[in-house]
Amino acid sequence: MSQIKVTIDGQTLNAEEGQTILQVARENQIHIPSLCFDNRVSQNTSCFVCIVQDAESGQWMPSCSSQVQDGMKINSSTPEVEDMRKTALDLILSEHSGDCEAPCTLACPAHAKVEEYVRAGREGNHFEALKIIKERIPFPMSIGRVCPRFCEQDCRRNVKDQPVAINDFKRLAADLYYDEYLEDMEDLTGEKAAIIGAGPAGLGAAYFLRRAGIASDVYEKRAEPGGMLRYGIPEYRLPKDILEKELAHFEKMGGITINCNQELGQDIELEELKNNYDAVIMAVGCWQPSSMRTEGEELAWGGIDYLEKLASQNFEMEDPGETIVVGGGNTAMDCVRSSLRLTEEQVHCYYRRTAKQMPAEEYEYQEALEEGANFEILTQPISLRKEGDKLVLKCIRMELGEPDASGRRRPIPVDDSEFEVKADTVIAAIGQKTIAPEGVPTNDWGDVEVKEDNCRVEDNLFAAGDCVSGPATIVEAVAGARRVANGVQAYLKDDTYKPPYLINVSRGHWQSVSEDELVYLQEPDESERVEQRHIDLDKRKQTFEEVSLTFTKDEVELEGKRCFECSCTAREDCQLKEHSEELGADPEAFSGEKIDHGYNVEHPEIVMDRGKCIKCGICIKICNEVVNEYLLGFKNRGYNTKIDTAFGQPLPVDCEECGECLEACPVGALDWKVKKNEEILKKLAEEK
Ligand code: SF4
Ligand code: SF4
Ligand code: SF4
Ligand code: FES
Repeated sequence: MSQIKVTIDGQTLNAEEGQTILQVARENQIHIPSLCFDNRVSQNTSCFVCIVQDAESGQWMPSCSSQVQDGMKINSSTPEVEDMRKTALDLILSEHSGDCEAPCTLACPAHAKVEEYVRAGREGNHFEALKIIKERIPFPMSIGRVCPRFCEQDCRRNVKDQPVAINDFKRLAADLYYDEYLEDMEDLTGEKAAIIGAGPAGLGAAYFLRRAGIASDVYEKRAEPGGMLRYGIPEYRLPKDILEKELAHFEKMGGITINCNQELGQDIELEELKNNYDAVIMAVGCWQPSSMRTEGEELAWGGIDYLEKLASQNFEMEDPGETIVVGGGNTAMDCVRSSLRLTEEQVHCYYRRTAKQMPAEEYEYQEALEEGANFEILTQPISLRKEGDKLVLKCIRMELGEPDASGRRRPIPVDDSEFEVKADTVIAAIGQKTIAPEGVPTNDWGDVEVKEDNCRVEDNLFAAGDCVSGPATIVEAVAGARRVANGVQAYLKDDTYKPPYLINVSRGHWQSVSEDELVYLQEPDESERVEQRHIDLDKRKQTFEEVSLTFTKDEVELEGKRCFECSCTAREDCQLKEHSEELGADPEAFSGEKIDHGYNVEHPEIVMDRGKCIKCGICIKICNEVVNEYLLGFKNRGYNTKIDTAFGQPLPVDCEECGECLEACPVGALDWKVKKNEEILKKLAEEK
């Protein structure tokens, strides 16, 4: 064959007549993405992801099937070319159905690999489960007890009955192996951060930095570390001996030092820290109780102050007498349930909206009811005064009016419905605010202002946790801790951190999926969710003993069998996902009808999930042209085309010995049922 010259992206290259543009590009390490190309089989030219442009004529052509010509000049990486490729991917994604990632994993603010640790738990491998959990969650013992279970709210099992009890997998794994497990860590680099605040965000940041080889000194103004975990969550939900065990691990990692009784502005100065450390992270939390905006409110406890005092007195506080807690969030429930344990008198909770609208977790509300709390809903305080040794709270009844900006019906006062009640203690638990250190930029809500991508405030100062987001959950603080640790690492390298663009194809939220539309590789167990066991109600009312009990191994293994394993078998090696992320394609860019072509799991090892098929035909040709069999084919024409077995016959069992088509499928349409293990992935990578 005669030698010719061709120019790709300004590079003049030697080529042979008859070669395709893609071949020449690949021989010269020029990256052109492709989906429907496999050099072992005749060309398909159906995806157009490999498109390039003739620099002189402007003509578009698929590089996998267009031959080079002498003197040809090709653009393969201009913004126009990338845009065309992105459009090709957008179109493929518009009719693609599947779940790249399981809904539970996506719903977890920390993006812990939920499906993976649920599988490990089901298999009885709780040590492995803990390892997976700790990649994203440094406090599995605490979060396994107090997390509001975002993952369970989105769990696909809700379509059938109740979600998988995911959080209990964390709790058991951590209770069993927390002391034994020491995570992989980079060697210390010599870089060091100062972290202000030893709560979940501060210690979480120290954890993720340490894993990356960066040491830290954590400064805490209170007498002991833990922040909200210690001072905001009562003992009956999170025993302090459990917390002690969990916190002890941080210093065991080596490179993390926690210094208590160190208050910013008194014992330590921000400017000094900025000068003495490579980076400073502010994680000071949200500790200022919000105002009730009523006359006499200074006579009430702030919810968080009440809980802090209780914790710092080791849960042995004086009897508060008859108590009214104002508010409907988790802090209000903690105040109600703590007060119930401290007094024989009645404990009331006044909330201005309905019980259904309470921001507190439903189980917290139910458990407070079981323990004897009296809820006065649609009730708003107007003023508070002292009369003798009693407090008098004046309130007004509310009713629901028109929806407000949040879409919830706004509570409005009922005319002439004022009334007064007497109590010994009133606690205003209606929210918390950030007390940002002086001179630090804040937003309209008074929270610390950071750059979204890297959590940086200014210079080498960063911030994370509640002081950035406003009051949130522990797992959200942990997610912020990881973001800030990534931001600091990038700052210490080259300061160009940008979170990666990730796509996720989804079959939809469980509320929009019917039972018939569920896809699973093996039938999940029909059993009902394992019920949470509690200590006796009498004990609950009288002591701060932990209320809920850790699931047994049998319970966790049974619960794991209820999981559908929602994610795509190919998510680690899917070329459609990889190219879409590289080029910024979006599954929502075009809204197309997604035809339900069904799926086939009859084969013991293989899944054929037709909704994911991009109709590239590679599998058919591999089977035919490489393996010399005719087991696969397309059925129907046009939009209704689908991959199937020839004549609708089941795939023979000996297919599992070949598996050539599965490994060639660029997506998860034809795949092994059992997730590809590292060996297979390595083999695939070598073949590419
Ligand atoms: S085939 Fe690829 S894009 Fe489709 S669901 Fe699976 S991982 Fe996501
Ligand atoms: S069924 Fe399993 S994989 Fe699916 S969302 Fe629930 S826990 Fe996650
Ligand atoms: S099943 Fe066959 S036709 Fe469909 S995407 Fe996979 S290789 Fe291509
Ligand atoms: S058209 Fe070239 S790889 Fe698909």
